[in-house]
Amino acid sequence: MTTNREAMLAKIADLDAEVAKAVAGGGPKYVDRHHARGKLLARERIELLVDEGSAFLELSPLAGWGSDFAVGASVVTGIGVVEGVECLITANDPTVKGGASNPWTVKKVFRAAQIAEENNLPTISLVESGGADLPTQKEIFIPGGRLFRDLTRASARRQPTIALVFGNSTAGGAYVPGMSDYTVMVKEQAKVFLGGPPLVKMATGEESDDESLGGAEMHARMSGLADYLAQDEYDAIRIGRRIVARLNWRKPYPPSSATEWRDPDEDPDGLLDLVPTDLKEPFDPREVIVRICDGTGPGNERPFDEFKPLYGSSLVTGWARLHGRQIGILANAQGVLFSEEAQKATQFIQLANQIDVPLLFLHNTTGYMVGAEYEQGGIIKHGAQMINAVSNSSVPHLSVIMGASYGAGNYGMNGRAYDPRFLFSWPSAKSAVMGPAQLAGVLSIVARAAAEARGQAYDEEGDAGMRAYVEQSVEEQSLPLFLSGMLYDDGVIDPRDTRTVLAICLSVIENAPIRGADGYGVFRT
Ligand code: COA
Repeated sequence: MTTNREAMLAKIADLDAEVAKAVAGGGPKYVDRHHARGKLLARERIELLVDEGSAFLELSPLAGWGSDFAVGASVVTGIGVVEGVECLITANDPTVKGGASNPWTVKKVFRAAQIAEENNLPTISLVESGGADLPTQKEIFIPGGRLFRDLTRASARRQPTIALVFGNSTAGGAYVPGMSDYTVMVKEQAKVFLGGPPLVKMATGEESDDESLGGAEMHARMSGLADYLAQDEYDAIRIGRRIVARLNWRKPYPPSSATEWRDPDEDPDGLLDLVPTDLKEPFDPREVIVRICDGTGPGNERPFDEFKPLYGSSLVTGWARLHGRQIGILANAQGVLFSEEAQKATQFIQLANQIDVPLLFLHNTTGYMVGAEYEQGGIIKHGAQMINAVSNSSVPHLSVIMGASYGAGNYGMNGRAYDPRFLFSWPSAKSAVMGPAQLAGVLSIVARAAAEARGQAYDEEGDAGMRAYVEQSVEEQSLPLFLSGMLYDDGVIDPRDTRTVLAICLSVIENAPIRGADGYGVFRT
């Protein structure tokens, strides 16, 4: 029999193989050609841009997974530390279709812009793109305009925007440097024009060349679109770092309690053993908490101060520290959420808002309890209270989907639609409106009743085939690679990295003031 650890390691190996596809970009042919032109790859540019030895939290690396487009969607996005400042970084991958933006690229870049907005981060765009992916232009041209709007609105919010232009940045793409606060262009490489020589010839009959239309020298000396002329890519990165160093960037908080912390009391490696291969079996989330939160020590006498431990025990709530920062945790324990759990969550979320403390949601739920007894007991009303509290809570939320995240449980536990600041999945995660077997069964019951109502005999053989097909496709669509491909999370992570990833996120969210909600929707009683 496969152990939990073996199953998790196999899923992590699958995940690594898919992430490797994103890292490989357009493949050896295009990567070699790019290097032979003396250019750096997107990830190499990022590595040189961020502070030496600092972590880069890549976001949405699997965007576009399962679609016709390359995994990663021809752009790299993430958060990196530049001159001590946490910045949102985007970098076109010119080895994938010339760095052209497809529908997934657009979704991924919008998500990155949302992260910069909510967390008050400067944005650095590393530009080299063939613009819109022309075969899919109908899906991106109109919504894609938001990219430029987002850049100038970021500037209006005093969130600095910096464009380092390494290559092509034509047509709409020209508005990336156009709308940025600071622009750097690489000599003899940057090409920034509204229309290239062939288009100009067609439009006006004028003969022109790349350099006079949009070269870095021209923009630095004549148009003024380039603030800095970089001698080469390394120089552009150096100048970009100097720009950030001069932003006078200050976090609203002193690095108070976050300066000291202790490693978890239990080895995070044990997280690999926790999640049962069959998600119907529950597991104790306290075993997760003790492996991702700060361990016992001065000022942290108990790593987890559980709140209301005797009430609504299918949801664990309480306070902990993670890299020195206090967080409130809501974690599913037994899968199902009953009225007590929903009410406990509602109270706990309000408590965190009263004291301006971020919340961490650890998902493993099959949803709210169904059945006459529970409906009569007001399960909808109580679930609505929880969803009200989650929706109107204004402290930052982090979500990790560890196992199941089904039905309205996904909403109450702060799924994607409820805008957690960051949401990551473990390779063991599964999300859908309900479990695949239940969904197929419901469809079958509905179809059988419809046939009866029409006075027709029910096609039993067809029913079996339909159930098997639906079950399999819902199962596939519930898996984290698929959901991450659709940008329904910010990435699938190895459980052992959870603490580090959350610590980075908690540091990032401190770029914006943290203040709990002053009001909620009407709590139905
Ligand atoms: N849409 C779809 N595919 C594109 C594309 C775009 N905008 N730009 C490039 N590609 C494809 C190419 O067709 C080529 O595909 P293939 O290798 O499968 O044949 C691949 O990407 C690489 O392009 P290539 O021209 O060989 O790369 P390059 O590095 O020499 O040049 C560009 C890159 C971006 C300068 C060049 O491809 C170009 O000018 N593209 C069109 C730019 C444009 O006008 N875009 C419209 C703006 S809205």
